[in-house]
Amino acid sequence: MSNAVVWKASVLHFLEDPDSASVNDACEYFEDGALLVVDGHVLMCGAAKDVMKDLPPGCEVQDLTGRLIVPGFIDTHVHYPQLEVLAGCGVQLLDWLNQYTFPAERRFSDRDYADEVAGFFLDQSLSHGTTTSLVFGTVSPTSVDAFFTAAQARNLRMIAGKVMMDRNAPDYLLDTAESSYDDCKALIHRWHGKDRLAYAVTPRFAPTSTPQQLEVAGRLLQEHEGLYLHTHLSENPKEIEWVSELFPDSKNYLDVYDQYGLLGPRSVFAHSIHLCDHSWERMGASGSSIAFCPGSNLFLGSGLFNLGKARRCGIPTGLGSDVGGGTDLCLLNSMKSAYQVSQLREETISPLQAFYLATLGGARALHLSDRIGSFRRGNEADFIVLNPEATPMLRFRTEKTKTLEELLGVLMVIGDDRVIESTVIMGQEAFRRD
Ligand code: GUN
Ligand code: ZN
Repeated sequence: MSNAVVWKASVLHFLEDPDSASVNDACEYFEDGALLVVDGHVLMCGAAKDVMKDLPPGCEVQDLTGRLIVPGFIDTHVHYPQLEVLAGCGVQLLDWLNQYTFPAERRFSDRDYADEVAGFFLDQSLSHGTTTSLVFGTVSPTSVDAFFTAAQARNLRMIAGKVMMDRNAPDYLLDTAESSYDDCKALIHRWHGKDRLAYAVTPRFAPTSTPQQLEVAGRLLQEHEGLYLHTHLSENPKEIEWVSELFPDSKNYLDVYDQYGLLGPRSVFAHSIHLCDHSWERMGASGSSIAFCPGSNLFLGSGLFNLGKARRCGIPTGLGSDVGGGTDLCLLNSMKSAYQVSQLREETISPLQAFYLATLGGARALHLSDRIGSFRRGNEADFIVLNPEATPMLRFRTEKTKTLEELLGVLMVIGDDRVIESTVIMGQEAFRRD
């Protein structure tokens, strides 16, 4: 006996990037819509009058008229152990790492503590409408065991990895090239491909890995199918200067990773703000993805990402909260920051583009668009229910909107996690706001 539920509400999802297709081809919007989910997968998404015509026997009806259903948000770059350094003010990247981040990451070799924070992080992610993330652990494999255990218990599609870091950090956070190989291999065997989980080889960034360790990262990628590569790239001018001193034989920052075979369609480079033309081209040609983290880039004063250039180079790009460089887990806030960055660059993005980045754009950046990020038939039914009247201010403002585009603009600019009324994972409600 199959489990069928139909959700009646306004429904929006993307089939294409709104900037490379006409709006009609890029998205489907059904003001009186319905989403039919059978055994955790999308069976049909369309106008309610069409979907309701032919429901499976015994299908449960959830009437959410007045709400907006969109695919769950996808956070393409976040550090779960950094929740406790949120809002660490006063410094830029390299000082921020030393002052706030490294001391906080120390505690994650304690399994009980890691379990507690991993569970809290995932529950907070769900309450902010995020259903899939690409996640940094710490250097301790314990941090990743805790994370995957918590993600598996919640049936979430999550990607994570242990930080590889064998120099230029406090002793208590260092591994070695050999130990990182052994630890990663064990984690890959335990978790990669289990349920909805996947492993990401995660060298922190070029300055904290020796050439030997970057070689190990490349070897791991070759030895296992379907692994991700997740790291930071060209975030801050002082960091970039440091990389050129540490790797004098490399042509540029991206080239350091390229030399060790770390580019490719499952490689995700967070930030990628300050790139030369050659790096942009190489990134595009290699099929690598970018996690655009506008909230973090503004908070740490790192710079203004060139989304237009990424698009022109054909680089799959998603949004990342980059907590704790970012100030919150809310991808509505990241959309607002992305909009602000695009304004400052005089390449203003539309609210549709912002919602695309947080959903299908993220799924494409993570090579998961055949499973999540849209309501294509057969996709996994991870979605969120948005309440456009969640606060008095929102109600006052959304009542006056006339178009979908205007409504999405209000949600991303005025909205926050209170807009997320419920979050559904594989057709099962995983979060509901009281
Ligand atoms: N570069 C190296 N490590 C980090 C980190 O933890 N956060 C950010 N934003 N950038 C980094
Ligand atoms: Zn980061």
